[in-house]
Amino acid sequence: MADFVNTKMYELGTKKSTIRTIFEFGRKRASEVGEENIYDFSLGNPNVPAPDFIKNAIIDTVNEMDPVALHGYTIAPGDPVARDTIAGSLNKRFGTHFAGKNLFMTAGAAAAITITFKALAEEGDSFIAFAPYFPEYKCFVESVGARLDVVPARCEDFQIDFDSFEKIISKSTKAVIVNSPNNPSGVIYSEETINTLTDMLREKEKEYGHPIFLISDEPYREIAYDGIKVPYLTKYYDNTIVCYSYSKSFSLPGERIGYIVVPDEAADFEKVYGAIAGAGRVLTHVNAPSLFQRVVARCADFPSDISTYEKNGKLLYNGLIEAGFTCVKPQGAFYLFPRALEEDDAKFCEQAKQFDLLLVPGKDFGCPGYFRAAYCIKTETIERSLPIFKKLAALY
Ligand SMILES: Cc1ncc(COP(=O)(O)O)c(C=O)c1O
Repeated sequence: MADFVNTKMYELGTKKSTIRTIFEFGRKRASEVGEENIYDFSLGNPNVPAPDFIKNAIIDTVNEMDPVALHGYTIAPGDPVARDTIAGSLNKRFGTHFAGKNLFMTAGAAAAITITFKALAEEGDSFIAFAPYFPEYKCFVESVGARLDVVPARCEDFQIDFDSFEKIISKSTKAVIVNSPNNPSGVIYSEETINTLTDMLREKEKEYGHPIFLISDEPYREIAYDGIKVPYLTKYYDNTIVCYSYSKSFSLPGERIGYIVVPDEAADFEKVYGAIAGAGRVLTHVNAPSLFQRVVARCADFPSDISTYEKNGKLLYNGLIEAGFTCVKPQGAFYLFPRALEEDDAKFCEQAKQFDLLLVPGKDFGCPGYFRAAYCIKTETIERSLPIFKKLAALY
């Protein structure tokens, strides 16, 4: 019993997430039965190595820059040249009009989201997420003294259930958070979904007489298949704040690099950007990793290599459909979110574990009755897992 430390922090630090527990189980089983006999679909950790242009950019940056400047503090929002370069690249790609002053460099999307929540939240505020959603949102929101309200999933296609949203949005809604391409469903919100959402938000802003922010959590923006375009949300809604990460697009999750975009059109840009700087300060952000600010800026125009994820996604989707599963077709990210073969998704995942198939129950993402399979693993492991999925399905 930890009565001399903060109880909530103690719980957060010691109660393992389901995903971590499953992953650790997998590591233990691998040491018993061999790596090749474990089908671990639990973690969203990119298995594609960081591209060569990243390695070259690291070497060139280290060789070319004065080490005192390179390894020293940058100003809190980030190196001005890096921010200008990334803003220019976004403008070329998405037809936006950002300058460096619209960007705030962060240690990945987790920092970007938490800083944004902290910058906006006041006591009693609510933030809305749409199921299925990234489970960390809850502890990030609660850490800033606000509440996370969840709109139940629209299971036929994992777009947004607007009737439920209408019932949940209220005067205390400070922001809604969207994540597209989505973890865990792999779905990309259509332009129609975005238009309906932003029309509703504008109406509610008028009705309540205060801004409602749209936070776009975008670690998977680049991982979109079949040429599907992921709408750039600042172009649809003025009060949009973008939280981007290079963890998945350039396979750099350990380097902790990303950024926040606050567009000029946001209600009172100076206030929002100032509060983001203040939130970064109290969260002891100081500055995003200095070397990697320069590295990602050098590589800002380079494409992500999504070929492995695209191949894996198709292979697993087709294999699961053939085995009798139902699943919304993957459009992006590197997850599938099929229906579990029994109502209790946790029990189903326990059953799968008997076959050393490691899957994550949907209830962890606010969507019971489903499971998540992360396919950022070796293609060969997916190939070998397909007959095992068939064996599992045959039990039902
Ligand atoms: C939806 C979503 N948001 C945010 C993050 C955090 O990413 P980062 O490594 O950039 O902090 C993840 C990581 O898996 C994610 O899936």
